[in-house]
Amino acid sequence: MKATKAGEHAIETMQVEERRYAPSPEFRKQANAQPDIYNRSLDDFWTKEANERISWFEPWKQLLEWKPPYAKWFIGGKLNVCFNCVDRHVEKGHGGKVAYFWEGEPENDRRQITFADLLQDVVRFANGLKKLGVKKGTHVAIYMGMIPELPVAMLACTRIGAPFTVVFGGFSGESLSGRMNDMSCELLITQDEGWRRGNRVPLKANADAAMESSPTVMQCVVIKRTGGDVQMKQGRDLWASEMLAGTSDDPKSCPCEPMDSEDLLYLLYTSGTTAKPKGIIHTTAGYLVGVATTHHYIFDVKPDSVYWCAADIGWVTGHSYIVFAHLANGTTGIVYEGTPDFPDKDRWWKIVERYKPDILYTAPTTIRTHMKWGPEFAAKHDLSSLRVLGTVGEPINPEAWVWYREHIGANRTPVVDTWWQTETGMILITPLPGITTLKPGSATKPFPTIDAAVYNNAGETVPPGGGGYLVIRQPWPAMLRGIFGDPKRYEETYWSRWKNTYFVGDGARIDEDGDFWLLGRVDDVMNVSGHRISTIEVESALVSHPAVAEAAVAGRNDAQTGQAIVAFVTLKGGKEGSPSMLKELREHVGKVIGKFAAPSNVVFTPELPKTRSGKIMRRLLRDVSENRPLGDTTTLADPTVVAELARRGKEEAGKEES
Ligand code: PRX
Repeated sequence: MKATKAGEHAIETMQVEERRYAPSPEFRKQANAQPDIYNRSLDDFWTKEANERISWFEPWKQLLEWKPPYAKWFIGGKLNVCFNCVDRHVEKGHGGKVAYFWEGEPENDRRQITFADLLQDVVRFANGLKKLGVKKGTHVAIYMGMIPELPVAMLACTRIGAPFTVVFGGFSGESLSGRMNDMSCELLITQDEGWRRGNRVPLKANADAAMESSPTVMQCVVIKRTGGDVQMKQGRDLWASEMLAGTSDDPKSCPCEPMDSEDLLYLLYTSGTTAKPKGIIHTTAGYLVGVATTHHYIFDVKPDSVYWCAADIGWVTGHSYIVFAHLANGTTGIVYEGTPDFPDKDRWWKIVERYKPDILYTAPTTIRTHMKWGPEFAAKHDLSSLRVLGTVGEPINPEAWVWYREHIGANRTPVVDTWWQTETGMILITPLPGITTLKPGSATKPFPTIDAAVYNNAGETVPPGGGGYLVIRQPWPAMLRGIFGDPKRYEETYWSRWKNTYFVGDGARIDEDGDFWLLGRVDDVMNVSGHRISTIEVESALVSHPAVAEAAVAGRNDAQTGQAIVAFVTLKGGKEGSPSMLKELREHVGKVIGKFAAPSNVVFTPELPKTRSGKIMRRLLRDVSENRPLGDTTTLADPTVVAELARRGKEEAGKEES
């Protein structure tokens, strides 16, 4: 990216999208969010939402303290997340309402969990954890698939006041242990195995490998899911059924711990621009108020809504919008364990037909996958219950947006393209479905009270139409409170570029109507199928293989996954690449990080293009990966790519000298 003069824009953008979709008069009239929502002041807005939406054990005294870059919200308040998500709904007489329709991947494996059931399950689980010595402040790790016990475990932790970290089940044992060590977790909750596309995911075996190098973890609770064989280490591992034996499910036997508004709720690890993932800190009150409020207005949730967020609970979307927002609002939700194509490509649409959700929230990569399979799978089923569709995780291309509305939403439903991050905790840029005129590909407007802008390199607002860096200039309740154990990195990553201004790391453009268009990451972070992976994480995984001398990684555009990973690898001792080495390297990255981070292309090259000071020319690698036809599948040494690398490397180094 070139430096710009004052007033200039920092990123070139060319996309022009003319299609417009205004809300229907009927939707407008009944919508939770009415146009005056944008006129409310920050104080008025969050004061009202916090008091109406959340139950407090002790009222808060001050809305916000902003000592950049640290914010505190709802100061002095006492509350409990589990109480808000579960107990109070039962106390108000809604115990019979379904909290989750759960659908396992094997067909006919279903459970219907009411709020009263959920309360019993959570109380028993919390009592079980207490028996093991878990108390307020104990750090707990959770490594599970999409089974009901996952939200139960998270809620049980919040009931006791034990901060937790959920590690996505697709991560390897090594990734799990890195996170458990960073957080000094004392207990791990996992399951024997998970189901994925008919295969068994060996969660406990991965956890065993992780615990070998996680000295702080003293106990491991294992939930039985598949019944497959697992090793149980005596004195360390126990079955959840043993832990739960004889525990009470009476809420009075395990009251909800009153927590301070700013007490740590959870850490969620996410990729940054170094090899070490960042433990993003979310605290109690601001987070809960932020997610519950956005959920209510953006998805237009009604008391009788059936809401399906089809993300994985292991990522922030699942934390905020499958567990905390949806339960705090007392909504009925759907949780599905498996993949959309098991046993066939219409599995999702069968689920829609069965449970009749009015809201569906998913990722562009999944929409593109359905698009590739063809509309006939959705057409076989009755999807007429759907009223609002949502997307999240990466920029959505207008064609996928329009396909989603047409084939899933019968050309009738609004599609809300919601922009946010692990760090923001809640959705920040989004349409409001009864107000906003939608433009396919645009996340449209900042949520009420969110002060988003696009800056150039000089920190000035870029005029309409120009591209630049997305920033947020005012705190919001669910914002991250730091990076666990690393305040310096927190300050440098997010707050050092411009004073008191949150640097997002995404490029964006604002058009003449004030609508935001997200342009992807501006740093060395890739977005593969909505999963954030840093180039350096994959590079260090590659060089940890004994045959690799050097590696550089770049993202290239991919029609389906958004970005795909291309690795340029130099082997030790001048060795040439081979198909078996290629396979080995992909497996190695799978083992170190997780399968989803395995490069889709590996280019073996005798050397990597470098500056005279020895820095790898990443931009050049990016260009090469973008512009060369590397194909859909893994390519071995592509002589034209390697020659191009060498030629352009020399050219650039020459320019640097002159
Ligand atoms: O680049 C943006 C992209 O995903 C990043 C955040 O990733 P993560 O923390 O894993 O959270 C994903 C789910 C909230 C952002 O910096 N991103 C997310 N939503 C959108 C998006 N890019 C464009 N449009 C979106 N709607």
